[in-house]
Amino acid sequence: FDTTIGPLQYADQFLQLSIKLPSSNIYGVGEHVHKQYRHDVNWKTWPLFSRDIGPSGEMHNLYGVQTFFLCLEDNTGASFGVFLMNSNAMEFAVQPAPAVTYRTIGGILDFYIFLGNTPEQVVQEYLKLVGLPMLPSYWSLGFQLSRWNYGSLDEVKRVVERNRAIGLPFDAQITDIDYMEEKKDFTYDKVKFQDLPNFAAFMHDYGQKYIIILDPAISTKNLVDGSPYGSFVRGESKKVWVNESDGVTALVGEVWPGETVFPDFTNPDCTSWWVEECKLFYNIVPYDGIWIDMNEVSNFIKGSIKGCAQNDLNYPPFTPNILENLMFSKTLCMDAVQKWGKHYDVHSLYGYSMAISTQKAIEALFPGKRSFLISRSTFVGSGKYTGHWLGDNAAIWDHLRWSIPGMLDFNLFGIPY
Ligand SMILES: *[C@@H]1O[C@H](CO)[C@@H](O)[C@H](O)[C@H]1NC(C)=O
Repeated sequence: FDTTIGPLQYADQFLQLSIKLPSSNIYGVGEHVHKQYRHDVNWKTWPLFSRDIGPSGEMHNLYGVQTFFLCLEDNTGASFGVFLMNSNAMEFAVQPAPAVTYRTIGGILDFYIFLGNTPEQVVQEYLKLVGLPMLPSYWSLGFQLSRWNYGSLDEVKRVVERNRAIGLPFDAQITDIDYMEEKKDFTYDKVKFQDLPNFAAFMHDYGQKYIIILDPAISTKNLVDGSPYGSFVRGESKKVWVNESDGVTALVGEVWPGETVFPDFTNPDCTSWWVEECKLFYNIVPYDGIWIDMNEVSNFIKGSIKGCAQNDLNYPPFTPNILENLMFSKTLCMDAVQKWGKHYDVHSLYGYSMAISTQKAIEALFPGKRSFLISRSTFVGSGKYTGHWLGDNAAIWDHLRWSIPGMLDFNLFGIPY
């Protein structure tokens, strides 16, 4: 482990270490659009910080954070892997030496190194450390259909029936947030999706399954049609939201439903509330699996409705080359408080913690059975709880092509589903 190529920097909010490598066969570190599986060593800098942004093909930070890379040393297969256990915003720079640099703005330099006779052995060792992947249900290996804005349940049914009629073997129908009432979790549109409580039965009659989407952000509107918005009211009474820097006031932002608070999935009380909400909704609209989205965590305004204070967390002395060069762009203020720590340190763990809480809900709903869970944001170890999809691609040929290195990357990261 040769680090003599550059100096070790170990300052407050700036830690950097470079590693000289025996070969340019370098794979991994994400989440990014890698247009080819093997890294281009010609001075590339990849920012890591979970972010709600579509895969454009630029070198920006994307939905999740994975700090593991694999290096294939020679044509005998001898390989090693390097994993930095660190959740802070960082950069991973690759240069022709060949060498790589980890440049992080918090935490510690906690490295794990894995040696193997083959790349597979290295990945096996890595996954023994971070957790083996969940075993998906058999049906979730089948084709699935989804889109935003079917417009009505009648239209969803027409799509299902059209595909049944031509004998297309598809196993699951998914609905996006347009099934909800005013885009609120755990509600359904009583007009356009009036018959949703019977939809799972409609699918099951044909041996098919039904998957719902859930977003983390919870609308602060107390009332829906004059009746209380129960999910918000119950969460509010248990104080399960991410707080502002004072540690006691819920941080308010804006997502699809309008003004929202953000569940702190690192809080065990929050997990209990979330599991209960999933059960309550299941009792009204039975479903077979869950798709979790917007968990980078996405916020349509910068930081909070009150803005973010001028301090070293919101404006660190050095900001990695992330989108907009602003830590709280499209997310929460960095000095916001969660049970696991300041948002500055745990930001990229939001989707990871939400997947753990949601997997608990699935286990409670389907005891002893495998189900379905995919998460847009992932972190090291997420594969133990969830699968992943590569995000809001535009269904163009480039995006299809880049999804191949994307899938290979996520196999290295222990998220084969
Ligand atoms: C947020 O504030 C509430 C009090 O309003 C408190 O009960 C809760 O534990 C706080 N959560 C965190 C993560 O600080």
